[in-house]
Amino acid sequence: MILPVIMAGGSGSRLWPMSRELMPKQFLKLDGDFTMLQATLNRLQGLNTQTALVICHEDLRFVAAEQLRQINQLYHNIVLEPAGRNTAPAIALAAFTAIKKGQDPLLLVLAADHLIGDTQSFQQAVASATEFAEADRLVTFGIVPVAAETGYGYIKRGQTTELNQAKAYQVAQFVEKPQLDAALAYINSGDYYWNSGMFLFKASVYLKELKAHRPDIHAACEQAMADVNPDLDFIRVDPQAFLACPSESVDYAVMEKTNAAVVVPLETHWSDVGSWSSLWHCSDKNSDGNVHKGEVLSLDSQNNYVMAETGLVATLGVQDMVVVQTRDAVLVATKDRAQDVKAIVQQLSELG
Ligand code: GDD
Ligand code: MG
Repeated sequence: MILPVIMAGGSGSRLWPMSRELMPKQFLKLDGDFTMLQATLNRLQGLNTQTALVICHEDLRFVAAEQLRQINQLYHNIVLEPAGRNTAPAIALAAFTAIKKGQDPLLLVLAADHLIGDTQSFQQAVASATEFAEADRLVTFGIVPVAAETGYGYIKRGQTTELNQAKAYQVAQFVEKPQLDAALAYINSGDYYWNSGMFLFKASVYLKELKAHRPDIHAACEQAMADVNPDLDFIRVDPQAFLACPSESVDYAVMEKTNAAVVVPLETHWSDVGSWSSLWHCSDKNSDGNVHKGEVLSLDSQNNYVMAETGLVATLGVQDMVVVQTRDAVLVATKDRAQDVKAIVQQLSELG
């Protein structure tokens, strides 16, 4: 059985001022009628899975629960973190939740903030991955890359491996967020995939590998889950034990170190919509290359992302800009500085 595990703990700070501490990116409707969390769950329709388990900050529990209710997920488990400790501990909490229920499902680990163009290809990749995960491999989904992105990790594929007609590759190397020249070389070689940050493995296999490579994280999470009732709607971990857990990504803690990793390719339009410029890339544009959200008027303006939450925003004679107007804040930036929006958030938090 597959248990979808939705990691919803990110802050999405580069999408300020839409994304806020109490309403981060994964809970926003950036593209269409559903929030990113809801779209992630909708993408599972047709796959034979258990009800998903969501992991997020405890302050966001009602936002998460309400968004699940809106798409008729009335029964839910939401694991609440007192503070983020990155993805390796978050996945460990999910694995312990399942094991405490007396189950050992395949955990389909998904980020709550990805856009995936082709649901069918995604579901086919999950089907292939299932064969390998059942055989105790740790599967990572590798996106066929289309640009030398430096905001993603890269996976170098090794030998082909086949199992019951499903095809995957050994993982030759993981490289987290390379420099541009390295990323260009990877793209040209044809041997690399983007690390999607999506995984499939048995709960027990993940915990075994975590214990082997990061016994400190394993022990802290085990302790944080010791007195937890895994059947509650809101699963609260022991805050002291969890706050003492080292912060580490699953990529560094487990995937880079294990010998049991394989990569299943996934060819689809895919983005983690990290910034306003990547959102512009992913969105439908008008004939001037502008993306307009809300009430927007543009004259002699090209290739801009313009969003008006309240009232009208008009642009005149500007190119390659991001203009995002919300109730209480306005961002005006050039698209090529979109990665630096998090510096604004940083400054704001220092100002208190
Ligand atoms: N619950 C929870 N708790 N979720 C978390 C936490 C946490 O402490 N930290 C991160 N997440 C969630 C985020 O919401 C996001 O959906 C996902 O885990 C990945 O975390 P990011 O912080 O966004 O990682 P990244 O984008 O810098 O890099 C990772 O993802 C890329 C793909 O999007 C790496 O795995 C890269 O190699 C990869 O290319
Ligand atoms: Mg990300």
